[in-house]
Amino acid sequence: MSVHIDAKPGEVAETILLPGDPLRAQWIAETYLEDTICYNQVRGMLGFTGTYKGKRISVQGTGMGIPSCMIYTHELITEYGVKNLIRVGSAGAYQADLKLHDIVLALSASTTSGINQERFKGYTYAPTAHFELVTRAIEQAKKMAIDIKGGNVLSADTFYEDRFESYEQWAKFGVLCVEMETAGLYTLAAKHGVKALSILTISDSLVTGERTTAAEREKGFGTMAQLALEMV
Ligand code: HPA
Repeated sequence: MSVHIDAKPGEVAETILLPGDPLRAQWIAETYLEDTICYNQVRGMLGFTGTYKGKRISVQGTGMGIPSCMIYTHELITEYGVKNLIRVGSAGAYQADLKLHDIVLALSASTTSGINQERFKGYTYAPTAHFELVTRAIEQAKKMAIDIKGGNVLSADTFYEDRFESYEQWAKFGVLCVEMETAGLYTLAAKHGVKALSILTISDSLVTGERTTAAEREKGFGTMAQLALEMV
């Protein structure tokens, strides 16, 4: 086992889906995978491995925020040999033309986090999705007739901001939406030479104040999970 994951060697697949919520990991495993085992229950951060159409795939909750996501991502890559990491998460829209349930590929991730400040001596590193996974996601979305968008997202370190309007500057510079993990995931994937992509479903809008219901989020989540499973 690693510090936070209780899996035995070989129990985690090379390709993994990463929702923030461990119960979403369980839902994906129960809904889409066969011959499933639960390899982790430490801290309730559930992880499962099974098969999807004959291919071995794992799904692991990461918790919320860059620090939690980086703990699981680091251990999955360095201790369990994971090679393809696909985050499936939710995000808040920063642009008026992004509607609830829209699916966004995070091509790059700006961040309010300091994770790369020290690493790059105050210069700005641009955490970026793996081109091959981006291409595969676009091709698969076309096949499944799922409308997707792609661009820069913000991985924020705080969910609750002092000033609601603080999103506007990011929005002016084309940032599509806000979530809390992708910049950490892409940075670690690049560091270790593995592939990562974040697929995000819009769950709320900072422009209009709209929010999805829990039932709607589940349905939207299903579309995104199917896209991720089919593309691998
Ligand atoms: N902020 C940060 N993360 C999010 C949001 C948000 O508004 N919506 C979904 N994930």
